[in-house]
Amino acid sequence: MTHPTAAATVSIHTQRVISEISPLLFGGFAEHMGRCIYEGIYDPASPLADERGFRPDVMKALKEINYRIMRYPGGNFVSGYRWQDGIGPRSERPRRRALAWRSIETNQFGLHEFMAFAEELGTLPMWAVNLGTGTIQEAADLVEYMNLPTGTHFSDLRAKNGHPDPYGVKYWCLGNEMDGPWQIGQMDAATYADKAVQAAKLMRWMDPSIKTIACGSSSTSMVSFPDWDRTVLEHSFEHIDYFSMHHYAANPYPTVSNIEGLPIDTDSYLASSVHFEEHADILGAAIRLAKAKTRSKNNVFLCWDEWNVWYRAKGGDGEWAEAPHILEEEYNLEDALVVATWLSTFLRKADLIKIACIAQIVNVIAPIMTRPDAMFKQTIFYPLALFSQHASGVALDVLVKSPLHDTKRHGPVPLLDISASFDALSGKGATFLVNRSQTEPLTVTLNWEDVGPQGFTQGWQMSGSDPMAGNSFSAPDAVTAHEIELPKLDGKVASLVLPPLSFTALISHHDPA
Ligand code: AHR
Repeated sequence: MTHPTAAATVSIHTQRVISEISPLLFGGFAEHMGRCIYEGIYDPASPLADERGFRPDVMKALKEINYRIMRYPGGNFVSGYRWQDGIGPRSERPRRRALAWRSIETNQFGLHEFMAFAEELGTLPMWAVNLGTGTIQEAADLVEYMNLPTGTHFSDLRAKNGHPDPYGVKYWCLGNEMDGPWQIGQMDAATYADKAVQAAKLMRWMDPSIKTIACGSSSTSMVSFPDWDRTVLEHSFEHIDYFSMHHYAANPYPTVSNIEGLPIDTDSYLASSVHFEEHADILGAAIRLAKAKTRSKNNVFLCWDEWNVWYRAKGGDGEWAEAPHILEEEYNLEDALVVATWLSTFLRKADLIKIACIAQIVNVIAPIMTRPDAMFKQTIFYPLALFSQHASGVALDVLVKSPLHDTKRHGPVPLLDISASFDALSGKGATFLVNRSQTEPLTVTLNWEDVGPQGFTQGWQMSGSDPMAGNSFSAPDAVTAHEIELPKLDGKVASLVLPPLSFTALISHHDPA
């Protein structure tokens, strides 16, 4: 049920603050799988590649997103990865079967190549260690290789391989999705927690300045969710800084076992943020419980290090090929709107979520698609770039009065999804709005309660009548964000009409502090 003249009001007070926005909310994830690394970020055979094998067109688009942190090298891949395969002369690096994705790994792209990529991109690396087939000693050796000054075996090896200065990698994931039967070396929660604690201990003895991230459940649909999370948190609380959560959205939802036969339901899909918030809230409660039970003074935050829409290209069988075309999901308008509500969820939960990484960055469930001679931006590229470029300072707790509409999966949900940020230092405000209605425009009145903006400086919108419309190599700009006419300010009030199925980012300028 929708209203023909639907209208929402929003009250914004720059002192009603949820939390500072961690810049690391705008992170990515690059896994050795499919064509994310090979033919994605590293494509020496492409006529467009530079002398390092990087594609300037891809690099430019990645820079536009302004990724602040990059998780690497997996994912499921990492649970069978020997990091020493990816160092030293390329001609001597082994070809191996990567069991996670039934692919061939050539190791032509490895540790130093990734660090050069991250440096060029201007993003922090977040390195996952192998806790599947890997040992705690190998994890500690990797920290030695990465972070110690020369003078010991692995730090000297790093220098020999061309990088005398320590890399100083700060963020370290303790394995990946160790609860899943698909994971190499799957284990139960208590066994994983023991291994994660021992790995974290050794890694921190190598470099006490590192931050560690333990694995949460791989999805809310796991039978072991949320007991896995509670158990791991209680065992590891003193040894970790962040707790990892993974979540993939789908239309219809859920993604994995019972997708067949469920009808497409766009209204429910566009309300997915109800589920995202619930997931974060459950883990937030588990963190508080573990902190209380362990009487710990430590603080643990959420690291949502795999999130995205993923449900069409589910097959992960690389058939023992190099760079197989797997998980090459094509995104549409409704996916972009869900991604926008997801990013708004990060702002609304900015006190709890401090790191987030979209999975993944190129070709594999990604905002960017490549072929040797071209690339295009998928629909989901636009909300990601707009949030990353403009959400800064603090997240504001805005008061929203919005008409509701009924959804099959989530019951009555507000038509308006909104988040707002305010940066007192620069005087920049940003408001991100999604109209979930498929048919009705929504008039939104924004009302600043304390200092109003001096004016709006920029605004962008994505909208369309077909939620299934997307981009492709032949129509790369079918669905993009375009600049809009800026609303007029009347004192501290502004109104705008949001088209159905739309995402709008509105930037305002205030007197800097
Ligand atoms: O991002 C693709 C895969 O999804 C990752 O390798 C794994 O961690 C998750 O199941």
